Amino acid sequence: MSDIKYSFGLWTVGWPANDPFGTATRPELDPAESVRKLADLGAWGFTYHDNDVFPFGASEADRQAGIDSVKKAAQESGLVCEMVTTNTFSHPIFKDGAFTSNNRDVRRFGLKKVLRSVDNAAEMGASTFVMWGGREGTEYDNSKDLASAHARYAEGIDTVAAYIKSKGYDLRIGLEPKPNEPRGDIFLPTIGHAIALINTLDNGDIVGLNPETGHEQMAGLNYTHGLALALYCGKLFHIDLNGQHGPRYDQDLVFGHGDLLSAFFTVDLLENGFPNGGPRYEGPRHFDYKPSRTEHLDGVWESAKANMATYDMLAAKAKAYREDPKVQAAFEHAGIFELGESTLGAGESFEAFLADESVDGIDVDATAERDYGLVRLHQLALEHLIG
Ligand code: GCO
Ligand code: MN
Ligand code: MN
Ligand code: MN
Repeated sequence: MSDIKYSFGLWTVGWPANDPFGTATRPELDPAESVRKLADLGAWGFTYHDNDVFPFGASEADRQAGIDSVKKAAQESGLVCEMVTTNTFSHPIFKDGAFTSNNRDVRRFGLKKVLRSVDNAAEMGASTFVMWGGREGTEYDNSKDLASAHARYAEGIDTVAAYIKSKGYDLRIGLEPKPNEPRGDIFLPTIGHAIALINTLDNGDIVGLNPETGHEQMAGLNYTHGLALALYCGKLFHIDLNGQHGPRYDQDLVFGHGDLLSAFFTVDLLENGFPNGGPRYEGPRHFDYKPSRTEHLDGVWESAKANMATYDMLAAKAKAYREDPKVQAAFEHAGIFELGESTLGAGESFEAFLADESVDGIDVDATAERDYGLVRLHQLALEHLIG
């Protein structure tokens, strides 16, 4: 196993494989046992929802017992609790959302549940607090005043961020976009939507993104491009890696078991950064996948290992790809380094630019005939991946 920091949600390996069409095919796992097992497999960290470690409505004593049990397993195994999140989607009270429910009592109930989870994240030493608004949305466009819904969503996120600051916690919020499922349309469906809302917040400096591979691909979007935008905006706080075959239900496959070429370019970005430098993602490589319903317990742990092994293989391939002189020459030929140069000169005025006859004095036809060699460059990537 490499020294890459791999992390898993306890709900991933812990999913008993119940789906809308059938009951569980596997037993419930003890979350503390999962912590120990993940450490044995070579993972670095773990994450959980409040109700992964204690049931909804637990007494104070049961709540603390659940937390203490995973805390003990973490201390003994050395697995790091790097992120905590809140379940605001399973209980029927959240059927119309938590922060965006039409019912104000539900919104206040949801907000308090989230703030208590923030306290727990700080107690566990986590650095990221994820908010996935699975039930924040509608099936029908007339179900809500959509402006009020976005205002309440923003209010809720801003309140959580203000609370973190008021407590002096070393925590940042990662919003997790998803286009649909379980709601017909979920609010903040993509990375771009979330960044736009964050820009309206008073405390948006500690609010960023937790983009998931499959969620962007469910929307027909390019995950690596989304990561790039989030990095460019200084908002890539955390990631959920998994596999997905295009727009359909949320498959939560092992990382790389969906769109493999896309996974290669995701790893290339995460491990090697942009060709022209720029912001890097330094956080854990976190997997949010589901061991398929056909698998029993051996398959759970095999599939957990498969995420890390696949990422390791892709990281090695991506490193060789970037170091290949043929690839670097193809980058040069394609103009990839040239794209790093600003379009206007340093301090160039509009007057000077508009007066520059060399701009439209270029040979337009010859310039249009440039061959960028992008197919060859892509074939080089493919050769590194499967050659
Ligand atoms: C999903 C989501 C969740 C979230 C988790 C953390 O599609 O169900 O990806 O798994 O990541 O709730 O907030
Ligand atoms: Mn998901
Ligand atoms: Mn999912
Ligand atoms: Mn997720």
